[in-house]
Amino acid sequence: MNKIRVGVFPAAGLGTRFLPATKAQPKEMLPLVDRPLIQYVVEEARDAGLARIVIVTGRGKNAIEDHFDTSFELEKMLEEKGKNGLLEQVREVAEIMPVSYVRQKQALGLGHAVLQAKDLVGNEPFAVLLGDDIVDAEEPCIGQMMRLYERRGNPVIALQEVPRAETRQYGIVAGERVEERVVKITDMVEKPAPEKAPSNLAIIGRYLLPPEIFTILEETKPEVGGEIQLTSALKTLLSRRPIDGYLFEGRRYDAGDKLGFLKATVEFALKRKDLGGPFREYLKGLKL
Ligand code: UTP
Repeated sequence: MNKIRVGVFPAAGLGTRFLPATKAQPKEMLPLVDRPLIQYVVEEARDAGLARIVIVTGRGKNAIEDHFDTSFELEKMLEEKGKNGLLEQVREVAEIMPVSYVRQKQALGLGHAVLQAKDLVGNEPFAVLLGDDIVDAEEPCIGQMMRLYERRGNPVIALQEVPRAETRQYGIVAGERVEERVVKITDMVEKPAPEKAPSNLAIIGRYLLPPEIFTILEETKPEVGGEIQLTSALKTLLSRRPIDGYLFEGRRYDAGDKLGFLKATVEFALKRKDLGGPFREYLKGLKL
């Protein structure tokens, strides 16, 4: 069985839920305390032991490439001013892990974005991580999934229990619980109404997929609106082989949504050694 070495980061979406902040700035670059969202997820990939990543970008997403690149002028200035702590932080970002980029020329859906990474991934299983799903976990979420994959050998999709009233915001799976955290998936429904949802188990932005998903995506017809959905391709994959749903350990924030972003900001700030204390005091003083 092939080890998972590559992570694909689709980051070419338009971020309409966060307009106007995302009009001229990628959603993935919104700062959670002091690091852009996507950096948390890239660090998750590194901590899980992935060897390299591919970021799928699009128009207006140059800031992502600049962020993970060396910034010669900035480094020189910080060096001259003796700001060594900051200099180290800036350098570290450019050295997190090897990154390659590919462009999705039109935002034609998540499935279409993943397909753009085909040549850079090659013929091996790979991970997909969405940069606006931030998972705070002791063991990186994608690493937990990689352990399951090594044990059972099936593609893996991360799942989270959501309130019934929210099923319309997610892909929802039907399945049978085979272990405490593992669901053998039998069906997937994109954004069902609560009364039509087969469960309250929602698909979130972490996947481990075989390279055969690329040929499936090439044959997947666009939905109304022209988008190629990853869920449609996953349904075809499911008709060919078993897929495991995995209820990860940790807390996930939908940071691409305004309320989810605010929750993540408050909780991550409270956890910070340098900010947690004064920030907690400040919050306590608010008349809520
Ligand atoms: P979202 O559903 O969050 O869409 O995409 P979005 O366009 O980014 O944001 P909203 O919903 O309009 O606010 C899920 C992930 O898939 C990527 C996004 O960048 C995000 O990481 N994506 C989506 C693409 O890369 N290309 C697409 O065409 C669509």
